[in-house]
Amino acid sequence: MSTPTPPPPAGRGSPPDGRQLLLRITGETPAAGELVEIASEEGSLIGYVEHVGPAAADGSRLVTARQATAGGAPAGRARREVTVAPAPAERVAELLAGPDPQLHLGRVVGIPDASVGLVAGKMNRHTFWCGQSGSGKTYALGVALKRLLSATRLPIVVFDPNSDYVGLGETRPGADPAEAATLAERDVVVLRPDDPDHPLRVQFRKLSVKHQAAVLRMDPILDRAEYNTFVRLVGSFYDHADDFIDQLRSSGEPGVETLAQRVENLGVLDWTGTWSLGGACATDLIEERPAATVLDLGQYDRHEEQLAIALAVLEDLWEKRGQRRPVLLVFDEAHNFCPPEPDTPLGVAVRDLLIQIAAEGRKYGLWLLLSTQRPSKIHSGVLSQCDNLTLMRMNSPADLDELARAFGFVPRQLLDQASRFVQGEALVAGGFVGLPVVAKMRDRVTPEGGVDVRVPMAD
Ligand SMILES: Nc1ncnc2c1ncn2[C@@H]1O[C@H](COP(=O)(O)OP(=O)(O)O)[C@@H](O)[C@H]1O
Ligand SMILES: [Mg+2]
Repeated sequence: MSTPTPPPPAGRGSPPDGRQLLLRITGETPAAGELVEIASEEGSLIGYVEHVGPAAADGSRLVTARQATAGGAPAGRARREVTVAPAPAERVAELLAGPDPQLHLGRVVGIPDASVGLVAGKMNRHTFWCGQSGSGKTYALGVALKRLLSATRLPIVVFDPNSDYVGLGETRPGADPAEAATLAERDVVVLRPDDPDHPLRVQFRKLSVKHQAAVLRMDPILDRAEYNTFVRLVGSFYDHADDFIDQLRSSGEPGVETLAQRVENLGVLDWTGTWSLGGACATDLIEERPAATVLDLGQYDRHEEQLAIALAVLEDLWEKRGQRRPVLLVFDEAHNFCPPEPDTPLGVAVRDLLIQIAAEGRKYGLWLLLSTQRPSKIHSGVLSQCDNLTLMRMNSPADLDELARAFGFVPRQLLDQASRFVQGEALVAGGFVGLPVVAKMRDRVTPEGGVDVRVPMAD
């Protein structure tokens, strides 16, 4: 009998797409997602457990594992009887730490000595971040964005409907001084509708005619007369919003009265915190690519204003896609921006741009990171384009089924574990981590925007 040889060190941060092994194990039963040391007569290797079958009459089980390291192998010997033991913590750490300690997101659940690091180079694809309300998505995403901000030069734009990321560039007391210093050097700009220095405003005029019409809820076929009047007038009258309606009515165009009524009835001119009216514009600032730009959409009362901002920013980035300047576009509460069936033409316009960016943006450096509670609340044309997954607590079997369809490479038994996660635990899977694994997210170094409102208690 040969002595088991220790496996050679694994390549750091390289997602192992090793051979699949079919093993019959006796003894201790591993869990899906676990890294185990598989020992046989030929030697040992580290494997990643994908599926654990039911116990046979003799107590053994069939286990599907994927080879995570090179090594003497039971590979190719399907169903050979082997024993498995939890992989040594240092091996797990090697496989999951990633290339840069600054990018550590948290620790492997059950192995506190093993850090899980982001492979930042693989953020050049779309990422889906989900979990039920309160599972810790916003908190964990804040951790990840800060790590990216500190350790990479990938510009980030956050669409922030709940004003949760406005403290992205600030450090909380007690943070590691080195981390705090790195973060402090980064240029984080928060845009707010009424901030005179950094206004969150966009230009109606810069939108394409199609998108201007969407803001005015016009359909080119259903509203063909008004749409047509509008198309003929575009460019001639709205330099000054103050007298927009007057200019419209004095144009002498047939059909202009109904168009004027539409604009007045919708109150689009009352979105005074949205339109820049020739002043500073969010798209110009994003064009300069600060390290991070937080669009504080929580300041708007109307969802339509949030959508108008998103539309203008996305349209501008899409128009300039040929420049191939990378940017990570982060949407918290992403179901507000790309639901399967938006209820207004403006919603449809934003969703369709996101579908387009999801399908074709990768090669232009437009990468999406979408966070939401339920996969079914995101249009399938967007969800199906995501390659990286962070899954926090999720109870609903229907939602887990949908994730299993969209992320076929993640073992189903691992997805199912999400119903038992506690707050802050997340399954991370895809190129942006070494292996699919359940991690406990680390603490933030910056303050939070919205914390839970506590129930008032009796004294
Ligand atoms: N890992 C964590 N450690 C400490 N507090 C957390 C953690 N994750 C979430 N929280 C807190 O729990 C609450 C809900 O988290 P949040 O990230 O807003 O959840 P979600 O975005 O999924 O609804 C917040 O007050 C947040 O600060
Ligand atoms: Mg949240």
